[in-house]
Amino acid sequence: MNPASHAPAGPTLFTGIQTLVTMVPAQAACADTQPRSLGAILDAALLVQDGRVLEVGPRATLEARTPTQVPRQPLQAPLVLPGLVDCHTHLVFAGNRLADFEARCSGVGYQEIARRGGGIASTVRATRAASVEDLTSLARDRLQHLLAQGVTCVEAKSGYGLSTESELRLLEVCRRLPDHFGHNVRCTFLGAHVVPPEHRADPETYIQIVLQEMLPEVARRGLADFADVFVEEGAFSPAQARRILQRARSLGLGLKVHAEQMGPSGGCALAAELGAISADHLDYAGPAEARLLADAGVVPVFLPAATLFLGHRNFPAAKAFLDVGLSPALSTDYNPGSAMSPNLLLTGTLGCVQCGMTPEQALGAVTIRAAAAMGVEDSGILAPGSRADFVVADSPDWRQLFYHFAVCPVERTFILGRCVWKRSWEVGFNEDPGPASQAQGGRPGTGARG
Ligand code: NIG
Ligand code: FE
Repeated sequence: MNPASHAPAGPTLFTGIQTLVTMVPAQAACADTQPRSLGAILDAALLVQDGRVLEVGPRATLEARTPTQVPRQPLQAPLVLPGLVDCHTHLVFAGNRLADFEARCSGVGYQEIARRGGGIASTVRATRAASVEDLTSLARDRLQHLLAQGVTCVEAKSGYGLSTESELRLLEVCRRLPDHFGHNVRCTFLGAHVVPPEHRADPETYIQIVLQEMLPEVARRGLADFADVFVEEGAFSPAQARRILQRARSLGLGLKVHAEQMGPSGGCALAAELGAISADHLDYAGPAEARLLADAGVVPVFLPAATLFLGHRNFPAAKAFLDVGLSPALSTDYNPGSAMSPNLLLTGTLGCVQCGMTPEQALGAVTIRAAAAMGVEDSGILAPGSRADFVVADSPDWRQLFYHFAVCPVERTFILGRCVWKRSWEVGFNEDPGPASQAQGGRPGTGARG
């Protein structure tokens, strides 16, 4: 389906919004708990046409100047915010890593599991064996999980194929992700995730395949916006990654780097040297790396759910980045090995309590900063010309998005002006849920609010 076909025809005026967070900095703070950077409007309205925002502003003003024949849609929303942006995911894969998870819970390390033949290589085996239909349906399910968390813009990487045929297949699945719900999607080629088992003894042969076969074909078929390399012990050295990223750049792809995740890998220096759009993970990045990224205009992306899920103690630290004027983005890293969760707001909570960010910085990190890490200008904000992708949340105060953690505040998610996801678990205590509400996925009686 063409994403544009998601948009309802004609204009609609959305009203009934107690607080509208636009993420376009306001001239002045509008209340104690509404910092300037949020661009919050109280008692607001949103005029939408053809899937785009025409105007945002106070309801009274917009109501007065919008012709009466334009339909009004009252949202009855305590809070509306831009659709969230998840700028680093590995959405397309088959199989699971339950055995790895169990081993890690008994104290075996992530890299030790990889040395024993588990880890990324085991997901590669399952992914190569899966059909395009299976991969598409699995990715669609994960995209729906993200939608339920309010995510409307997403980056998706390949990296579990690691052969030319299989990597291209994964990118084709990524490219079709907008067909499902209309998401704004960017695709990243991660053929240099690790050296696949059949080339372990001779990594150079695999690097040549990446350089000579994969990258030119990915570029020729327009299957990716970015190329990424996992720069880490056991994956690729900075010298190997440099050759791959330079080739990608010469073919017109933007660059991303998995940097300083498990140790000081040199990934940040490389990202800065090559002018990557983002450097991601950064658990072992400090002031020196922050300075390099700031000077080169690289967006730092923190993935603290991976740190949490791997049982590591060394969370990425925001202070060094904030000190040089760089506000990090936050992302899920949704993948089977190190972060099996679509909960982007939980990464915001981790950003606050483990990485040293304020709730205000965390909200920027899952909206405009994440959009910057993907080079996207029309998501992560609500402003004239932006996509009409927004979230209706039941939080009366925006700080609650991170404070009431791991409880999803998302009531409805809109993409291109259309409601594409609605929470449906509110079943009364004495009501019989019946087959109809069961089919909607009802979760009776949790009643968790605000
Ligand atoms: O971002 N760091 C490399 N890649 C993923 C993990 C992939 C996996 O374990 O399957 C990450 O954490
Ligand atoms: Fe990753």
